[in-house]
Amino acid sequence: MMDLHNVFIPLLLSCTSVFTVLYGQKVVTDPKVTVYQGNDVTLLCQYIRRSTEDKITQVRWTWQNQSSEYKIMVFHNDYGLHIHETPLKDRVSFSKSSPSIDEASIIIRDVKISDKGLYSCDITIYPGGSLTGQTTLIVLEDEPAELSLITQLRAPVTYNRMSQY
Ligand SMILES: *[C@@H]1O[C@H](CO)[C@@H](O)[C@H](O)[C@H]1NC(C)=O
Repeated sequence: MMDLHNVFIPLLLSCTSVFTVLYGQKVVTDPKVTVYQGNDVTLLCQYIRRSTEDKITQVRWTWQNQSSEYKIMVFHNDYGLHIHETPLKDRVSFSKSSPSIDEASIIIRDVKISDKGLYSCDITIYPGGSLTGQTTLIVLEDEPAELSLITQLRAPVTYNRMSQY
């Protein structure tokens, strides 16, 4: 196991550097995230630098549903954090207590059906302009079919108990 581990790490590192050299700066997000209502969800936004020269000024999250687009919050290097007035206001935060632009993922707590839509993470870089990463959030109601399946078949319960050994 240890030997395999040692082989894989350098391999991964070299792939990552090639990737960075070839494609330069970019924003990493999950294209699609699905969550059951009432749970918390993390929306990824990671900035991969092209060089240490990149000066990033702000990161802004927006949300759009079928009718409009809303600013959720913005973190600016000089002006700090501002959370806009939206239905998400009291349930959204950056995943790091001191957000940085390299790691600007957010957490939405107690997700509602109405939170579904397209989330965008816009990063402003000087002098490069701006980059956007997007995530479509799909929110599902509790699935009754799955629950009734577990009640009907006792086998999965037995498996769960056995897996604890
Ligand atoms: C979009 O979100 C706003 C704010 O929550 C809401 O008032 C509006 O009805 C939503 N539109 C659709 C099409 O869901």
